[in-house]
Amino acid sequence: MTPYDASPPAQSRQTAALTDGLGRKVTYLRVSVTDRCDLRCVYCMAEHMTFLPKAEVLSLEELDRVASVFVGLGVRKIRLTGGEPLVRKGVMTLIERLSRHLKNGALEELTLTTNGTRLAAFATDLARLGIRRVNVSMDTLDPDLFKRLTRGGSLAQVQAGIAAAAAAGLKVKINAVALARDNAAEIPELIRWAHERGHGITLIETMPMGEVDEDRTDQFLSLAAVRAELASYWTLKDLPLNTGGPARYVEVAETGGKLGFITPMTHNFCEGCNRVRLTCTGTLHTCLGQEDATDLRAVLRAGADDAGLIAAIAGGVDSKPKGHDFRIDRGSAPSVSRHMSTTGG
Ligand code: 5AD
Ligand code: SF4
Repeated sequence: MTPYDASPPAQSRQTAALTDGLGRKVTYLRVSVTDRCDLRCVYCMAEHMTFLPKAEVLSLEELDRVASVFVGLGVRKIRLTGGEPLVRKGVMTLIERLSRHLKNGALEELTLTTNGTRLAAFATDLARLGIRRVNVSMDTLDPDLFKRLTRGGSLAQVQAGIAAAAAAGLKVKINAVALARDNAAEIPELIRWAHERGHGITLIETMPMGEVDEDRTDQFLSLAAVRAELASYWTLKDLPLNTGGPARYVEVAETGGKLGFITPMTHNFCEGCNRVRLTCTGTLHTCLGQEDATDLRAVLRAGADDAGLIAAIAGGVDSKPKGHDFRIDRGSAPSVSRHMSTTGG
């Protein structure tokens, strides 16, 4: 047993659980630590992105402070995202500070979603700090296609990162965005690749977030159709696993591996939603598919004490929308104007 598995002393847990206006308990916080990335995936970013000036982005201290207040309010799981979290200067300092909540048991899990380009350099330190799993984005096994989809990325580098993470003892889950034109045909091969290495894999439907250069409509691939095709030659067993998010999981009997489907467009998962998001600018979004927002940076920088911050967070969470309103049939116009890289996927 690692020290991170230890149960917390009862008094270290605060009972002021965050509950929204509809009675949903918020236990999961996703934090985008930067809007920057060393890749430019075609469905995520425009080729020439304007990134935020440094002053608008929360400092590492501010990120730690807000995240820690959430932990005090009953958040049990934090996922760091971006942009690419590992390109943020000093990100390991932030992870080290947040890991104190793992050590005292207040936090069950600290994870990250990464593009994998820097995993080879960071995997050992991540494992040392109590990170147990990482999600790595990889949409194809074809180096040329990977290079085109990410506008310049190296598949070999990402696969070396995945191998380093596994060697350091981290559980790896592959995230692959399903793209009708680009990777539809190789989805079974991607699943095999992941399962052969003992990794889970989750397929993601494209979401209309932020202006990109392409028309996302013609790349939309329904995962209901993908699942039906996979089920024609594999045995898919539903797993009860429910993370409070949009993913549904099956086990592929033939490979023994786990396969997830994230279908924000075709499924309604909002009733059980347990999560909120903090952008790198300190805006709290309580729903990925709505424009609702609470500016925690303004509260922070006005010198609020923890009580003030807690009041602002509770106010935002209280009005968490009932559900989202994604539609892909609006051509390339996004439903939500902010980019995934600002909000954190
Ligand atoms: N639709 C679906 N998935 C997206 N991602 C980024 N932008 C989009 C989008 N518009 C994915 C990335 C990564 C995860 C964090 O989100 O590929 O796997
Ligand atoms: Fe970077 Fe991830 Fe967006 Fe790709 S999807 S550009 S890796 S943030």
